[in-house]
Amino acid sequence: MKIGILTSGGDCPGINATIRGVCKTAINHYGMEVVGIHSGFQGLLTKEIESFTEKSLSGLLNLGGTMLGTSREKPFRKQGIISDVDKPALIQRNIAELGLDCVVCIGGNGTQKTAAKFAAMGINIVSVPKTIDNDIWGTDISFGFDSAVSIATDAIDRLHSTASSHKRVMVIEVMGHKAGWIALYSGMAGGGDVILVPEIPYNIKNIGDTILNRLKKGKPYSIVVVAEGIQTDGRKRAAEYIAQEIEYETGIETRETVLGYIQRGGSPTPFDRNLSTRMGGHATELIANGQFGRMIALKGDEISSVALEEVAGKLKLVTEEHDLVVQGRRMGICFG
Ligand code: F6P
Repeated sequence: MKIGILTSGGDCPGINATIRGVCKTAINHYGMEVVGIHSGFQGLLTKEIESFTEKSLSGLLNLGGTMLGTSREKPFRKQGIISDVDKPALIQRNIAELGLDCVVCIGGNGTQKTAAKFAAMGINIVSVPKTIDNDIWGTDISFGFDSAVSIATDAIDRLHSTASSHKRVMVIEVMGHKAGWIALYSGMAGGGDVILVPEIPYNIKNIGDTILNRLKKGKPYSIVVVAEGIQTDGRKRAAEYIAQEIEYETGIETRETVLGYIQRGGSPTPFDRNLSTRMGGHATELIANGQFGRMIALKGDEISSVALEEVAGKLKLVTEEHDLVVQGRRMGICFG
């Protein structure tokens, strides 16, 4: 069998470890041929590929980013590098011309949607969920999330000492447009006093009261962790907006930090390396068994898979009933 592999959408730690997991299993265990497709779906439009050998897969396990490059090319939309052709049909033709028996798509929600559409056209696809945001429906965890949470937690830890020295409120903005998983997990792990996620509406008076109550109890500084996607005035970034509102509400000097792309760069954590390796290996196993149109998933501690058509278009969001929210509230953490 000959398989192609691509990475699409925003990068994240663990992509290269996944490529390695897929390809080494394919070459070593199943004797398959593997080609890397450059720049996501764009590479399927332009047939930009490279053949993989064991040698080209060395040094990938701890390497950040994606060695294949990525793009946000969405072939089912008109925009993009080629806009005047039927892009899905061109990709179908190119896959046949390249002799690919299956394409492995490593990506986030947008990629899962695209993969589901190609699967519906009869193309053999297996996908692997990738995003630091952890918002892909159907899997408990996507690789990249643990690494991002670890980086964000380290940043929050560092803010504690400077917040405490200056008796300030520190607001830190982490990624997550629609889902607040990084804010929730890093906020709890980093001992945040206020954690704001897009899924839970907030009231600035509650936030102010939490901070002033801490002051009354002899704790003159506070840490506020916000997801980038929370409600704002629509003009300022989440951290800037919340910091200004808090300073106005409490009169306490407040500073903001936007963590940004540092969350997405660099080496994956050991957890993500192993998750990527397991997911990659399972993707190849599905291909060998002729099970296509599926996304790899982690359920509990088991690696399994779900039908792409079930995943496409859904989001996994934080709920008020989540253990960490419930436990956080019981400990006096303000969620808005
Ligand atoms: O990878 C997901 C994500 O990190 C979001 O949380 C973030 O808002 C987005 O990607 C930004 O990525 P880009 O600027 O590359 O589109």
